[in-house]
Amino acid sequence: MLDNVSKQCKPVDLQDLFQRFAFDSTCILVTGNDPGCLSSEFPEVPFAKTVEEAEESIFYRHVVPERVWKLQRWLGIGEEQKLKKSKEVTDRTILEYIQKKRVELSKGFTVKEEEEGVDLLTSYINEDYNFGVKSDEKFLRDTAFTFLIAGRDTISSALTCFFWLVSRNPQVETKIREELKLVIPKDKVTEKWWRFDINELKNKLVYLHGALCEAMRLYPPVPFQHKAPLAADILPSGHLAVPKTKILFSMYAMGRIESIWGEDCLEFKPERWITEKGGIKHDSLFSMRDQELVWEKKLLSLR
Ligand code: HEM
Repeated sequence: MLDNVSKQCKPVDLQDLFQRFAFDSTCILVTGNDPGCLSSEFPEVPFAKTVEEAEESIFYRHVVPERVWKLQRWLGIGEEQKLKKSKEVTDRTILEYIQKKRVELSKGFTVKEEEEGVDLLTSYINEDYNFGVKSDEKFLRDTAFTFLIAGRDTISSALTCFFWLVSRNPQVETKIREELKLVIPKDKVTEKWWRFDINELKNKLVYLHGALCEAMRLYPPVPFQHKAPLAADILPSGHLAVPKTKILFSMYAMGRIESIWGEDCLEFKPERWITEKGGIKHDSLFSMRDQELVWEKKLLSLR
């Protein structure tokens, strides 16, 4: 795709391109089918569009009070009406994929557990076949939908922000290129294209790994989340959380806390993920919060 657009000197919207790439890859991973979003004609694929519409309506539920969207759902109006319509289309399409998969498997059914390249639906159906049960259609449909949503925007957001940050930081681009050159076999360096094998890359692209972590620290693909306890619990900070307490936390903000990440917390510095020994640091947003917790506990004891 990129070679094609660069030959034609066409501008390309990388975010759109990565969304297409991520939707196709996730769909192949989940259903074994390629919806064909990533193509030089940049087609509008109805299935991809309805998944996007469903996601938009689901997001809306996070920004209006619960009572409002529940009332809208009951009355069948607004975003809830849209969600119902787009969910009907996505459900129908996924059920068609499941049906197709069942037919394919019934024709050349081989129950090989470790078969390479097996998609998620095949694995689930095979697993149930091994246990002598027919997979539950609704379970398969909803699991496939969850994966489609979980895989698409995360990958495309991570890639978009990564390339945007690299394009604004040429010194990072140079270091990534230098590291890549070290991995390419000497006799292949002059070749225009080189496709890396995953095993060749293992533990070798530390700087690139750091750059990806750094891009996701500044622009986390899942920027906020909420959780609710099933039973009353005390949070590490000492706060009481009772059932139905909605705990909202922003990974976007957590990745930019100056007391944790330092004064340069807003800068794109892949080096902060690299250890003195040259390996990758495996700190997470959560494990690095100790300092904050001590501070929060001190505050609570003062109250
Ligand atoms: C840059 C890539 C990705 C990021 C940053 C990411 C991040 C996350 C986060 C933060 C959660 C929530 C975890 C929690 O509840 O504590 C999650 C859940 C999940 N992710 Fe990912 N993810 C990525 C890629 C993927 C891909 C490629 C797939 C599969 C195709 C996937 C499948 C899932 C599933 C199935 C869940 C559980 C959803 C549920 O709660 O039912 N993710 N991911």
